[in-house]
Amino acid sequence: MFSTRLQWSEPLNPLSELLWQLRRERRHIFDLTESNPTSVGLLYPSAITTALGSPESLRHQPSAQGLLIAREAISAYYQQRGFEVSSEQLFLTTSTSEAYSLLFKLLADPGDTILIPSPSYPLFSFLAQLESVKLSEYPLFYDGSTWRIDTHTLREEAKHAKAIILVSPNNPTGSFLHQSELEVLREINLPLIADEVFGDYLAAPEPDAVFSLAQERRAPGFVLSGFSKVLGLPQMKLGWVLPFGTEKFTQEASQHIELLLDTYLSVGAPIQHAAPYLLDMFPLLSGQIAERVIENRRALRGLITKESPVSLLGVEGGWYAVLRVPTVHTEDEWCMMLLERDSVYVHPGYFFDFEAEAFLVLSLLARPEIFQEGARRLLTRIEAETSPAEPS
Ligand SMILES: Cc1ncc(COP(=O)(O)O)c(C=O)c1O
Repeated sequence: MFSTRLQWSEPLNPLSELLWQLRRERRHIFDLTESNPTSVGLLYPSAITTALGSPESLRHQPSAQGLLIAREAISAYYQQRGFEVSSEQLFLTTSTSEAYSLLFKLLADPGDTILIPSPSYPLFSFLAQLESVKLSEYPLFYDGSTWRIDTHTLREEAKHAKAIILVSPNNPTGSFLHQSELEVLREINLPLIADEVFGDYLAAPEPDAVFSLAQERRAPGFVLSGFSKVLGLPQMKLGWVLPFGTEKFTQEASQHIELLLDTYLSVGAPIQHAAPYLLDMFPLLSGQIAERVIENRRALRGLITKESPVSLLGVEGGWYAVLRVPTVHTEDEWCMMLLERDSVYVHPGYFFDFEAEAFLVLSLLARPEIFQEGARRLLTRIEAETSPAEPS
């Protein structure tokens, strides 16, 4: 009766099952995976809900591209960041996730292959299954300060792919696209899907980091972003697609996107009318998130001593921290142990397809007191389990 696009009833993995059980027992959990900005004690002014009440929303104004008032506000946001993007270039969606689905429909037929970075954001496999496209990975490798694309494998994989996804900064490695990698992508000349949702959150970008492809004119592709990360408002459901490349490519792509969007008209009027007011709050909203991420990253760095068996990998931006931990236990064993014995919840690296063990991924959004106590417990546990008496 149902399609086979997804495995509809995959069993919970043991870590999620344990988490569920402990929550049912009302155990207090130090959740270092929390990536919902609206549940970590940030200030969201009541002007946000006021802005959603515009009487203009009472009128249905069907617009596949999205209302001009919202596109102009997004154009001004790019201007503020130093990028020239006009309102005519932008297409509104309800979210970045929806934008991915839209672009998979635009660029691939069922069975076609799209390339994704590895490690990266776990949602891709679901998005791809829903659109009946295949994914193939191109690896990123850690060079001692950031993650870079294995361009040799990328070139090989690109031979049988229809598009290449870039996440810049990447979730969870925090690495930007770099200039030399962009040169390779220009040569490959496949459409790029450039997810820049974390682009406002800088840590220590490399000198050759590419901050946005918004003004790229050679390689063809699309920038994706949205309020979910730009304003820390995932529930408001506003994202966008910005085609880039040659004029011929952007014109043709824009016409096709308009047709796709016209089929659904999924973006609501209240959020589009509220967009200028919400983007006025960009410094406050994204500033709070940036401060939180910096504070927690600094605390984590301070907790890791020179002698610690744990190392914190370098990041150029984003909301996450990646820890390399000893391989005396597998990632699964570390995560289960930390949750069961220390009430600390972290994600194993393999959730994000890290090539080798053992990495743990922490979100840096949690309230500082929760983050610091959770991180302290985590480090104490790993140090105790890796005492010199034990083989490492
Ligand atoms: C890299 C990346 N892209 C997109 C999204 C989803 O964004 P949206 O809420 O706009 O669908 C996330 C959410 O965590 C993400 O990490």
